[in-house]
Amino acid sequence: MRKIAIFASGTGSNFQAIKEAVDKGIINAELSVLVSDRPKSLSIEKAERFDVPCFAFYPKKYSSKEEYELVILNELKRMEVDLIVLAGYMRLIGPTLLKEYNRRIINIHPSLLPSFKGKDAVGQAMEAGVDITGVTVHYVDSGMDTGEIISQQELDISNLKTRDEIETEIHKIEHKLYPSTINKVLEGLEWEER
Ligand code: GRF
Repeated sequence: MRKIAIFASGTGSNFQAIKEAVDKGIINAELSVLVSDRPKSLSIEKAERFDVPCFAFYPKKYSSKEEYELVILNELKRMEVDLIVLAGYMRLIGPTLLKEYNRRIINIHPSLLPSFKGKDAVGQAMEAGVDITGVTVHYVDSGMDTGEIISQQELDISNLKTRDEIETEIHKIEHKLYPSTINKVLEGLEWEER
């Protein structure tokens, strides 16, 4: 069975949705580990509650990104992880992981990329006054939210008034779109290896 790792820094609602999808057999893979750069985050609390192995680290304790990514890479290799799923991981992935996991790292972003890259995509959409925004899942490259797009779903925000309302609807989309896209990517890996 394929193995996935989730990287998260924050509240971990996508982590939870993916874990539930794995448990229900909606995602055809094993969830091997949660990696977090914030050992005290809610995502770690959730992983412990769900008995998912965690690898939590303080980036400041390492002299460089390369140094901590090598430690992560060793863990992932030991666990034979096939796919890295970023879910609110607030760091750019460096060459160490990108090289070993070429087209095997994906991210979810709360906008219709290429619009509103980077931080606070919902705030950027509100500021711009757009009627339609959405969610994108994409492959990760060295840029910020620049990798090839895998799937997208639109959200009409013209009748939503507050940031809270928009974020709630964005999360509802994310929690369905991410599991289905993870399956699609895993199926693609099967084909590539035939
Ligand atoms: C999500 O909105 C995702 O699109 C973005 O970070 C947020 C993470 O939320 N990359 P959560 O921690 O999964 O609740």
